[in-house]
Amino acid sequence: MANTRRDFLTKVGLAGGYGATFTAMQTLGLLPSVGSAASVVDLPVTAGKGVKIVILGGGIAGLVSAYELGKAGFHCTVLEARERPGGRNWTVRNGTTVEFVDGTKQTAQYISSDSYFNAGPARIPSIHKTMLGYCRELDVALEVFVNTNRSTLMVSDKAFGGKPVEQRQVINDTRGHVAELLAKCVNQGALDQELNKDDRERLLVLLRSFGDLRPGFDYPGSERAGVARLPGAGEVTETPRPCLDLHSLLDANLWIDTTHEETLDMQATMFQPVGGLDHIPYAFAKKLGKVMQYQSVVKEIRKSDNGVKVVYTHHGAEKSIVADYCICALPVNMLKSIANDFSPQVKQAIADTHYNDSYKIAWESKRFWETEYNIYGGISWLQGGPINMVWYPSGKMHSDMGVVLSGYGLQSLPAFNQLPNMEARFAASRAAVETLHPGHGKDLNSPMFVVWEKIPYNQGAWISSFGDYYGGPYRTFLEPDERVYFAGDHCSHVVAWQEGAALSAHRTVRMIGERVRSVKT
Ligand code: FAD
Ligand code: ALA
Repeated sequence: MANTRRDFLTKVGLAGGYGATFTAMQTLGLLPSVGSAASVVDLPVTAGKGVKIVILGGGIAGLVSAYELGKAGFHCTVLEARERPGGRNWTVRNGTTVEFVDGTKQTAQYISSDSYFNAGPARIPSIHKTMLGYCRELDVALEVFVNTNRSTLMVSDKAFGGKPVEQRQVINDTRGHVAELLAKCVNQGALDQELNKDDRERLLVLLRSFGDLRPGFDYPGSERAGVARLPGAGEVTETPRPCLDLHSLLDANLWIDTTHEETLDMQATMFQPVGGLDHIPYAFAKKLGKVMQYQSVVKEIRKSDNGVKVVYTHHGAEKSIVADYCICALPVNMLKSIANDFSPQVKQAIADTHYNDSYKIAWESKRFWETEYNIYGGISWLQGGPINMVWYPSGKMHSDMGVVLSGYGLQSLPAFNQLPNMEARFAASRAAVETLHPGHGKDLNSPMFVVWEKIPYNQGAWISSFGDYYGGPYRTFLEPDERVYFAGDHCSHVVAWQEGAALSAHRTVRMIGERVRSVKT
């Protein structure tokens, strides 16, 4: 019996639901296929035989470069200034010392050996296929990272008497009011020019569902926004609570933070390595073994006709290394103080590149947010003060202690930057927790402040959009300066994400592979 495509898809849909239908439609060429595989380099295993590469910097870009070049038979050395791999990928645990360039030191003194926080990267979205692919390849165990959570709180000094409300209220009451207003427009004929009769009817059906409207298209509130009392057994019925009024919702501006989770990179499902993000660089470093040269601080980069010479210090002693090619995976900020004979164009690109200065403040605490607020991971948002968010841990739910962030953002934002010193910043951070969770500000211990502008060997968080970076320096870093290639998230359109660092490494490795092949043939 002949099956039409429609029959086939209907049957697949009945058996396997939407997902199966979708996959089948892609297979039949009826839907565009979104790339689902990670970027791969795919050089022959002997491509690099006899070719030496020096890689500057053991962050994700340097590690991925060395790992992929190693697979293709290149002889690599990674010069890394720190005593650990990962660069910005850095997990702070009990005993970790954070030292600023001005000499200020803090050491994490956590009660629980499980306590940690990720001072740099903390989340990996499911669209970052290359990084997730490496986690699979290197056996880095992952767990779900809770980026958004309807039970978290939102507070603005402009509405609701400065009292926190639940995120589910802000999202669902805003939706309800907007749906009611749009339904009114439709019913009063305001959209008759734009929509035909059938579409108007279908839009009303959509709005009723979207906003949980009553049959008359009004929005008196919805259990989606939470209830005063949850339903229980016996006589315990659900007790509704009044909805937040639209005027106050608009005044409060809280909806701005509810769209955070809609950004493509921030959408569920997100992941984190179990026990700390640094499990990723350590997994690379384990594979690379002696290729990694720690405490090797690059001081000079010199080009020659047939190679590159890099001068560095190791435990204070000056050393040098000569290689056929160099991958410079250092932050551009760091390149500003390294002697070099780059082309005038590269020198200019380095001078024209600027970084943002993100910070995180973290505290160890008993998990009152779980036991008293039903909050399991996610972010609470604050508006009007110096601290913008409180970010709860996604791992080890129900354990005794956890590390909570109170403050993650640009240090340069005036409300935060005006705080005179670290103590004032910790006080503001504690006060933000107290605003959201009255009585619990005092439960916070062992504060740690990481500001990337002051962290040696980075002195910046990620490229700033100051000036025309993508129209200027970026284009220069994409091409080699003779035998020196550049890599790092700044050489990608995925800045401030490890995925960008990994993709730039793949691009550079492919370019070197192609060049070596063309020289050999
Ligand atoms: P880096 O990690 O900066 O590596 C550069 C390396 O060069 C470092 O190891 C450094 O020690 C070394 N180096 C510097 N100077 C010298 C020298 N003179 N000699 C030798 N070595 C030197 N990404 C995500 O995927 N998810 C997130 O949630 C996320 N959040 C972030 C939050 C913050 C606060 C920050 C700062 C970053 C975040 N990122 C996140 C971005 C991510 O950290 C970066 O995109 C990625 O780690 C960049 O890797 P890289 O190799 O390009 O650079
Ligand atoms: N990619 C960075 C983050 O997730 C900016 O916070």
